Amino acid sequence: MPNDDVYPFQWLWDSCFHAIAWAELGEPDRAVAELSHVFRAQHDSGFVPHVNYEAHPTFHAEFWGREGASSITQPPMYGHAVAELVRRGIEVPSSIVRAARAALAFLFEQRARDDSSGLVTIVHPWESGADDSPRWDHWCDGSFDSGRWYDVKGELVESIVRDREGAALANPAFGAAPVAFNALLVFNARELAEVVVDDSLRVEADALDSAVRARYDSELRTWSDAGPAADTSGRVRTSDALLACFGAPERAATVLDDLVDRRAYGGRYGPTYVHRAEPVFAPRAYWRGAAWPQLTYLLWVCARRAGHHVCDALGRGLVDGATRSGFAEYWDPDDGAPLGARPQSWSALAAVVASERDDGAAATTRRC
Ligand code: GLC
Repeated sequence: MPNDDVYPFQWLWDSCFHAIAWAELGEPDRAVAELSHVFRAQHDSGFVPHVNYEAHPTFHAEFWGREGASSITQPPMYGHAVAELVRRGIEVPSSIVRAARAALAFLFEQRARDDSSGLVTIVHPWESGADDSPRWDHWCDGSFDSGRWYDVKGELVESIVRDREGAALANPAFGAAPVAFNALLVFNARELAEVVVDDSLRVEADALDSAVRARYDSELRTWSDAGPAADTSGRVRTSDALLACFGAPERAATVLDDLVDRRAYGGRYGPTYVHRAEPVFAPRAYWRGAAWPQLTYLLWVCARRAGHHVCDALGRGLVDGATRSGFAEYWDPDDGAPLGARPQSWSALAAVVASERDDGAAATTRRC
C-alpha cells in the first residue's frame, strides 16, 4: 500500500517503485512478490488496472462498473522495475516478464492513438499518475477549481470506451496525449527490451519515440502534449515532460539545467512539478507545484544516464526532502514541509539514490 490510511490498496506505478525500493533494501523476495502482484488483475488482453482492490473487492465497484480492480491504467513502470531487479542480480520469474511484455503490447497496439501526433492517449487524468496537473485544465473549463475538477474527474469515467473484458481503450470526451506518459511508455519498453530478446518491442518504442520527439518546443524548452489541449493547457510547463530526455539525450544538455534553476523548476528539496513562471504555480498544492519523490527519482535516473551534472542536486533534493518531510507523499520544494500522506511508500526511493552517494546519506535513509 502507498499508505495504509489514505491509500489502503495496491496502486500500479507505486508498486513498481516499491519493488525497486525493496530490492535496494535487500529484500529481493518482497520485491518480486510485490511486482508479481501488480499483475494479479491483468486481463487476457494484457491490460493492467491501476488499483487492485483485493483487500476489499466491492470498494468503488459501482464507480468502476466491476469488483476487485479499477478499469483504467497508470504509467507502465513495470518495464523499469523488472530491469532494475535483474540489474541487481534478482531472479525475476519469466511469468512477470511475460506479463509486463503483454501489458506494454496492450498500450502499443490496443490503446487509442491521437490521430495527428501518433501519441498514445490516456482515457482519464488518473492514468497519468498526475491527477490534478495543470495540463488537464483544458477539461476544467480552461481554469482550475478543485471542486469543479473533482466533478469532471467523476464524469470522465462515464465516457470511457471499454472492451468486453472491461479494459479502457479510449475516451472521446478526453483524448489527452501527454508526452510524459508516452515518454515513460518508451522508456519502460526499452528497459524491458534489455532483459528480453524482442525486436518488435524495440521497433514499437522507436516509432513512438519519434512521435514524442516531434513535440519539442524550443521556446518553452520542453515538450508539449498532443490532443485537444495541444494549443491550450497541454503547453503548461511541468517537470514530468522533461522525462522525454530519456529518448532524446541530446536535448538533456539544453533542458535539464532548468530542473535546478530557481527561476524554472529548481527547489532545495527537488524540482517543482510546475515551472515557477507559470501563473498556476502553487508550491504546496496537489499536482500544481509541489515536489514529488517518484518524479525526482525518475529525473535523477534520466540525468544520470545522460551524464548530466544535475543528477547530484536531484539526488540530494530527494534524500533531503524524504528525510525532512518524514517520507511524505510529496513536499514543499523550498522547505521540505510534508504534504499529502505520511509516510508514503514511494519516498523509499530515496534509499536508491542515497546508496549511490558517499556522504552518509545511505545510512541515514536506511535508518529512517
Ligand atoms: C495519488 C497520485 C497517484 C498515486 C496514488 C497512490 O492518486 O496522484 O499518482 O498513484 O495517489 O499513491
